Amino acid sequence: MSKNHSKTPSPVTVSKQINTSKITPYEVSGAIDYQRLITEFGISELTPKDLARIEKIAGELHPYLRRGIFFAHRDLKWCLDEYEKGNKFFLYTGRGPSGPIHLGHLSTWIFAKWLQDKFDADLWFQFTDDEKFLFKDITLEETQKWTYENMLDVIALGFNPKKTHFLIDTKHAGIIYPEAIKVAKKITFSTIKAAFGFTDSNNIGSIFYTAMQTVPVFLPNILNKENRPCLIPLGVDQDPHFRISRDVVEKLGHHKPAILHAKFMPPLSGVDGKISSSGYEATILTTDDPKTVKAKINKYAFSGGQATIEEHRKLGGNPEIDVAYQWLRYFEYDDKKLEKIYTDYKSGRLLSGELKAILIEKLNTFLAEHQKRRKEAPKLVDKFIYK
Ligand code: TRP
Repeated sequence: MSKNHSKTPSPVTVSKQINTSKITPYEVSGAIDYQRLITEFGISELTPKDLARIEKIAGELHPYLRRGIFFAHRDLKWCLDEYEKGNKFFLYTGRGPSGPIHLGHLSTWIFAKWLQDKFDADLWFQFTDDEKFLFKDITLEETQKWTYENMLDVIALGFNPKKTHFLIDTKHAGIIYPEAIKVAKKITFSTIKAAFGFTDSNNIGSIFYTAMQTVPVFLPNILNKENRPCLIPLGVDQDPHFRISRDVVEKLGHHKPAILHAKFMPPLSGVDGKISSSGYEATILTTDDPKTVKAKINKYAFSGGQATIEEHRKLGGNPEIDVAYQWLRYFEYDDKKLEKIYTDYKSGRLLSGELKAILIEKLNTFLAEHQKRRKEAPKLVDKFIYK
């Protein structure tokens, strides 16, 4: 190699290289450096002390906490302080209904369900049909159809209907809108532009939208005449909305919400970026049958294995970039089993095809149960919609 080639890149090149990832609620792309996000977003990494405190109260730690899938927070300490004083928090999360639910969506809600059970918390779940109508090339009727379909998946996860309240933006507009305008009056266009990279050609509904997503942070307290903390489990891409919400709700006399941030489950195509629902082919949907799951995993799951069996036995696989292994971190809750898979794969004892077979079996077991409950869900929808 000539001297020229080995020379360190200029600072300009370096900053270009490290800025290849992009994270806003409307775009997630590139290799995500979560450490960098912690600094950039000004969120706090969950420490062993935080985890020990959650474990002490909950009696156990969810695998997503043990494994750093939920990795950061805002104001968790305050939220738990209040909890220990007897002022229980409510949970708030949501879904923009623009298509079918895939496995990547489920992780936040699986975790929300655990929080509901362990902390005996009410959950307010917002379906933002307005958001998807405004931001995507989709009709209002289509978003409303997906709202219904997506509700079935949320219900199938087993939330307690007595403690879970669905808000649908266009249907509950009557209670949301009066609060949304109070929020909107405190947010300027320049704040929204800076947070989301909007320009003058964005439609005016999209500019207003953050106000709608802010309202459930405090609406339950208004409806119930209470003053509880709000805890929001979310995918970290949603944090920019709530950075704005946190400033505004305080000005309106409400508590800032606490937040727990999740990393993205990687797409089948590789560990960089967020699992997408734009190409249905390369993701696993909650409605996929066992054959489809098997075919998709075998065809699309990026492998960290070697090119030939001989090389694999000799050199071993790389679980860090192997999507089948990474997905098992979400679905195999037994730490011992998972660790054995890791070491066997790394040492070359376990082949890529065998690793994929373990995942396929795990997913199909999960999905069989999910689909059974999803079939029963239409009967329950009415119980979940806030009245
Ligand atoms: N904007 C989210 C999405 O596109 C939906 C949403 C509404 C949400 N409220 C939320 C997500 C609160 C997390 C937390 O899916």
